[in-house]
Amino acid sequence: MLDQTEGYTTADGRQIGGVLLDLRGITLRFGGVEAIKNISFDIRQGEIRAIIGPNGAGKSSMLNVISGFYVPQDGEVWFKGARRGPMKPYEVARLGIARTFQNIALFDGMSVLDNIMTGRLNKMKSGFLSQAIWWGRAEAEEIANREQVEKIIDFLEIQNIRKTPVGRLPYGLKKRVELARALAAEPQLLLLDEPMAGMNVEEKEDMSRFILDVNDEFGTTIALIEHDMGVVMDLSDRVVVMDYGRKIGDGTRMRCAAIRKSSTPIWGCPMTRPLLIAIGAPDPVGNTAIIAAIRSEVRIIIACQASGQPRQIEGNA
Ligand SMILES: Nc1ncnc2c1ncn2[C@@H]1O[C@H](COP(=O)(O)OP(=O)(O)O)[C@@H](O)[C@H]1O
Ligand SMILES: [Mg+2]
Repeated sequence: MLDQTEGYTTADGRQIGGVLLDLRGITLRFGGVEAIKNISFDIRQGEIRAIIGPNGAGKSSMLNVISGFYVPQDGEVWFKGARRGPMKPYEVARLGIARTFQNIALFDGMSVLDNIMTGRLNKMKSGFLSQAIWWGRAEAEEIANREQVEKIIDFLEIQNIRKTPVGRLPYGLKKRVELARALAAEPQLLLLDEPMAGMNVEEKEDMSRFILDVNDEFGTTIALIEHDMGVVMDLSDRVVVMDYGRKIGDGTRMRCAAIRKSSTPIWGCPMTRPLLIAIGAPDPVGNTAIIAAIRSEVRIIIACQASGQPRQIEGNA
């Protein structure tokens, strides 16, 4: 059951629903290292939620908690209105949560098609035994799975490489295949760990478009870790900022349009510390600059590209 608390409308007019995933007081330790320190935030139905922060902040660890790879020492994970007990990653996948990895995790020797098919494993009912003795059902299932996979291949425009072994693909396409595999599981919540890391500008634009399309056409809720602030601001509805395992900010992205319309700077961003980051700068706006600004409690607006020309609207306040 979904939390019925009111959602919100995004700057671009999309209606965001109730709470889909609720993280409450999560603490995760590795021996003496506290990777996540008492962090709470929610992810709402239909939104794209970004998690940003410098390396080592605990972002990937947080995705690992959500996907069941790590079990936190403290705190609660609520999904679709129910508290989730400790679960194995495949059980979490069955609940409707799929992910990609910071370091690509695909089978290099297998074709694109077969790699994507592995994303359907959580949907398959018949095991090897029933495939042997009740081949009819297994065959019907195989056909249905293939159809779904073909749909995703078309959607992500990778028809021409479907037979290619993944190991031979350039990096950007591997990332797209990883996205395809995650989508094959038909997740309600999709977790993307640095989906554009190492990509060139064109590949980033493609990936951004696909992420928006997935959200739009399948209604998939997305949590995204990304360092390129231009991308974060283009894609995300709300941003969680992590630093040394703590949450230091949590708020709505500020759209360029909103800033331009307003004669006075908007400081209404519900961050724990005042922060306004701007949007769509042509060069990736440094994540580290933003973190430094938050750490020193400086308010900043970084270059805004709405007029086509990047410009500094507001300096340190
Ligand atoms: N499996 C692990 N074992 C021990 N320490 C870990 C493990 N995973 C992450 N850490 C530590 O937790 C902290 C957060 O790491 P991580 O979640 O990967 O950060 P981020 O994704 O923000 O760069 C780091 O100090 C890292 O060394
Ligand atoms: Mg990481």
